[in-house]
Amino acid sequence: MTEKATASPAVDWAGLTDAARAALTHAYVPYSKYPVGAAALTDDGRIISGCNVENASYGLTLCAECALVSSLHMTGGGLLAAFVCVDGAGEILMPCGRCRQLLYEFRAPNMQLMTVSGIRTMDEVLPDAFGPQHLEGQENA
Ligand code: THU
Repeated sequence: MTEKATASPAVDWAGLTDAARAALTHAYVPYSKYPVGAAALTDDGRIISGCNVENASYGLTLCAECALVSSLHMTGGGLLAAFVCVDGAGEILMPCGRCRQLLYEFRAPNMQLMTVSGIRTMDEVLPDAFGPQHLEGQENA
């Protein structure tokens, strides 16, 4: 069953959006000229962020979410409780499909994402996701 998102008073969405807007000023986007900033609240209350970093070999581009999940681990690990992504105008941007999968791996239970259609759960933006649960019990997992 799809879990419905409910606004959580514990999440400072304005502060999180400001953190994403600050992150995008560090973006390296000489090719697309499309800066992206992402920010998240961790389950232990840290705010982490990331920006996109492109490469002359275009396909090697790192989305802002890649930097964010790296920062999650660099600053103590844990899980993502709330997430926001913004474009160069500072407006809410939907994470791309690949990044929804990246975020799914580190979702806290009932993780909330600010989207163009309001607050959503991870399950709403990536239904029936493939994840670590599929690898449980595998010899190589
Ligand atoms: N981009 C992100 O950083 N995250 C997303 O979720 C969507 C796309 C970046 C990648 C590339 O540097 C630029 O946006 C244009 O695709």
